[in-house]
Amino acid sequence: MDNPVIRPRRLRTSPALRRLASETRLNPADLVLPLFVREGITEPVPIQSMPGVSQHSIDSARRLVTEAAEAGIGGVMLFGVPEVRDAIGSGATDPDGILNVATRALVAEAGDALVVQTDLCLDEFTDHGHCGVLTQDGRVDNDATLERYRDMARAQAASGSQLLGLSGMMDGQVAAVREALDGDGYQDTALLAYSAKYASAYYGPFRDAVESTLEGDRRTYQLNPANRREGVREALIDIAEGADVVMVKPAGSYLDVLADVAAISDIPVWAYQVSGEYAMIEAAAAHQWIDRRRAVEESVLSIRRAGAAVVLTYWAVELANWLTEKRS
Ligand code: PBG
Repeated sequence: MDNPVIRPRRLRTSPALRRLASETRLNPADLVLPLFVREGITEPVPIQSMPGVSQHSIDSARRLVTEAAEAGIGGVMLFGVPEVRDAIGSGATDPDGILNVATRALVAEAGDALVVQTDLCLDEFTDHGHCGVLTQDGRVDNDATLERYRDMARAQAASGSQLLGLSGMMDGQVAAVREALDGDGYQDTALLAYSAKYASAYYGPFRDAVESTLEGDRRTYQLNPANRREGVREALIDIAEGADVVMVKPAGSYLDVLADVAAISDIPVWAYQVSGEYAMIEAAAAHQWIDRRRAVEESVLSIRRAGAAVVLTYWAVELANWLTEKRS
């Protein structure tokens, strides 16, 4: 047998060569930290199913934003956990609702160091836990929900949010919110469309984090995990409706959808590494069954490799600090 002439291993022979030949890189600026702000608390409250992640008071959230800015990450995505919920999610549109109050405080704290973004969805604010308002017979009313989203968008823009994360999966939500914002003079408030958001078991720990009251599931609005083509369709619709960024979520189990969307999109494509993805790695690492740091880095790198320009991840700050520490 002849010796091989073609030797791909050549580019793997030293750390410096491997680094130079690397096709994908991670940078702090590509990371966004989801952040939970809870009404009525003065100290952070740890989230059982997400070791290392807490619900924050406004003050502790301020400190975290400062830390995030120092780590050099690109932004934070705010979620509100209100004390009181009702059928239409009034807290979402109330200027004194927790998410809007937190947005004003954190936009002031962040200045130009990072982008403060807000989740635009009703599920944290409704007593039934659905992402929209319900009809008499208990179904999610798409078009009535759009009216709530318009109001929520105006409230968030007025609070200073620069990028609204539309995560409710209602048909027509991007166009409706865009029109409402433009009509109120908020032409520069950008829209991040959670275009391909799947009805996923991996949101479990998040629902603890926001103390979700949901009974049943979201399968009449979030995507069927079996559907790849439909994920691309949703992204195309959101691009046509005027989204500034499209997103795929969860990330790790949907890298095929992410790669497809990245291939067709002419606007930035992001991905959300969700709470269950975080919890699985943390749980395995706590047992010393995997190397925590390597698993975290590999999981986020893989999401970037599949086509995400930016990754929302609960490890954003820690990972950013590792990346800077490595470089120096
Ligand atoms: C809805 C929303 C959810 C997540 C982000 N936005 C939950 C859901 O759709 O049930 C999940 C994020 C995560 O699991 O980390 N507002």
